[in-house]
Amino acid sequence: MSASAAPPLPRRFVATGPLTGRIRVPGDKSISHRSIMLGALAVGETRVTGLLEGEDVLATAAAMRAMGATIERQANGDWLVAGVGTGGLLQPAGALDMGNSGTSTRLLMGLVASHPVTACFIGDASLSKRPMGRVTRPLGEIGAAFTTYPGGRLPLIVTGAETPVPITYRLPVASAQVKSAILLAGLNTPGVTTVIEPVPTRDHSERMLRGFGADLSVEIDDDGARVIRLTGQPELVPQAITVPGDPSSAAFFVVAALIVPGSDLVIENVGLNPTRAALFDVLRAMGGHIVALNAREVGGEPVADLHVRASELHGVTVDPACVPAMVDEFPVLFVAASVAHGRTVTAGLEELRVKESDRIAAMHAALTLAGAHVAETADGMIIDGSGGQRLAGTGDAAIATHLDHRIAMAMAVAGLASARGVTIDDTRPIATSFPVFEALLGETGTA
Ligand code: S3P
Repeated sequence: MSASAAPPLPRRFVATGPLTGRIRVPGDKSISHRSIMLGALAVGETRVTGLLEGEDVLATAAAMRAMGATIERQANGDWLVAGVGTGGLLQPAGALDMGNSGTSTRLLMGLVASHPVTACFIGDASLSKRPMGRVTRPLGEIGAAFTTYPGGRLPLIVTGAETPVPITYRLPVASAQVKSAILLAGLNTPGVTTVIEPVPTRDHSERMLRGFGADLSVEIDDDGARVIRLTGQPELVPQAITVPGDPSSAAFFVVAALIVPGSDLVIENVGLNPTRAALFDVLRAMGGHIVALNAREVGGEPVADLHVRASELHGVTVDPACVPAMVDEFPVLFVAASVAHGRTVTAGLEELRVKESDRIAAMHAALTLAGAHVAETADGMIIDGSGGQRLAGTGDAAIATHLDHRIAMAMAVAGLASARGVTIDDTRPIATSFPVFEALLGETGTA
């Protein structure tokens, strides 16, 4: 999509003043994708308030339109989704361009897998490197057929099953995308589709499927695994959804405020679903002042305003059990650790190697260039912090972001804590998840 069509947009991020005031980050990306998809399968009109208008979510909306849903933005910023009903997806006329978005691709493959349509998925250079076998395997068991590029990658063509069969599938990898792809395929499959999740991952699909009226149960088995059962072919009931602020976007401002001296910032309306919020606990364990104010519920999800003050951080060993609940936050945690006192050790991060980029390798290269002391391991990173000193890189050589929004934003935050700034080779990928990131940095007084 646009990220590969336009020329790269490099930018140098430099230390200026403390971050102060109150900001609001845009809507949660995971919840936004799901609200469009389920709205498009309900009979009637779903209203979504606070939808993330990032490129990834817009790719999902375009694909659902191509398969028959009517999706429109209202003048007040709400989105209206008129659904086609479970089983009602139409044959798309052309390829579905997923841009940079793994979530759009994998979840939509699930939807298509149990509809009698054929869809071709294409994406940018980053997405075209990512593994799809993790979803084509279970969806093949349901009855869908796939033709993929060598290595099970995009471009790929899915032909949905005429008569899908319900499966019981134990997730071999902790992935909410794989779980959700199977559950979404289960929506148009007669009978009960079961996903067994040994390690819990974000549960937005389960919450929202229930919210739309699907019959979904979650049970913990004798081994402690979550057993999720969905009864197929429900009539989904349209909803009014309010999307909470994205904790994965708030994370960049939380870390920025912790590491820029004198900062005192409130980030309003941050989603704190326990399957997403582990970064904030880790940062508190490092000595970060992060106080949740005005805790409440928005759209069936826990939400609070986070009050963050600049803090002296010290290194920690991060429990690998926390990884799924902060899987997208490691790039920015590495930045916090780079300026902390002492050593931070992380492990169990194999999945980071198959995100929008290999985030262990990309952050190792980027932080080294920025002057941090980092060592890469097979499944993590060991970081010796600067003890509160600014990072000492020259700031001249551009950091490679590899079409990865979170590398770009994490290293922008590193720039705020650097003696001579950090140059990012390309800021365009930021628009996939957080189009107003740079504007908000300006508002908080740092850009
Ligand atoms: C997501 C799940 C995670 C996460 C991604 C969004 C989702 O991916 O990294 O940004 O919305 O389900 P995995 O399922 O690959 O861990």
